[in-house]
Amino acid sequence: MQVNPSSVKAESIRVLRTHFVTQHQTLGRRALALCAPAKGAGCTFVAANLAVALAQVGLRTVLIDADINAGGADFPIKFDPSTRGLSDFLRSGDMTISQLTQPAGIENLFVIPCGAPPTRAEELLGKDQFRTLVMTCMRDFDITLIDTPPAGQYADVRRIASIAGYAAIVARKDQTLFKEVKTLTKELTLDRVEVIGAVFNES
Ligand SMILES: Nc1ncnc2c1ncn2[C@@H]1O[C@H](COP(=O)(O)OP(=O)(O)OP(=O)(O)O)[C@@H](O)[C@H]1O
Ligand SMILES: [Mg+2]
Repeated sequence: MQVNPSSVKAESIRVLRTHFVTQHQTLGRRALALCAPAKGAGCTFVAANLAVALAQVGLRTVLIDADINAGGADFPIKFDPSTRGLSDFLRSGDMTISQLTQPAGIENLFVIPCGAPPTRAEELLGKDQFRTLVMTCMRDFDITLIDTPPAGQYADVRRIASIAGYAAIVARKDQTLFKEVKTLTKELTLDRVEVIGAVFNES
């Protein structure tokens, strides 16, 4: 992963992990969608680094790359391009959930890659199989983190977050507007998603 364990950034991720564990996981909540109002806020970066940090303290963690339009381009944990993923699972229906879950090369950390970019992502993520997948992950893992597409670009984020039930919003310094965070919080709340907090990405 990208974080040097002794850097300030790594320290910020550890603080986020502590917050997440004490405020969220100890209450028996098992899933969290990481959401951002617009492209490039660092949603994937935070999701992946938080997943690594949680795995490092012994929590069996699965990170679902649900930004299926992006085809894994910016996803920091790389897999062989032939590895099938979420979109393939939702499209074909011939894969089991255990076939989808890939070890990430770090103890306790597993990833569900996004798979080949689909033509109609919204339709795929709206399928019951997606909900079933998230529910199964919540049963089989201590923590299910879901990386979502930018909210301003696709409606998928609201669907994904409402399945997880809980969301954290990633905002980036000098880039994300406060009103965008407010709007997204309002939309998610309307969808009965509990927004547990915002992560201010200072880099
Ligand atoms: N705190 C950080 N330190 C260093 N690099 C970062 C940090 N946050 C984000 N980046 C880098 O900025 C770029 C955009 O981040 P990322 O892909 O996580 O954003 P995103 O919100 O997921 O974007 P998209 O909406 O396109 O999926 C990536 O190259 C990522 O590695
Ligand atoms: Mg992303």
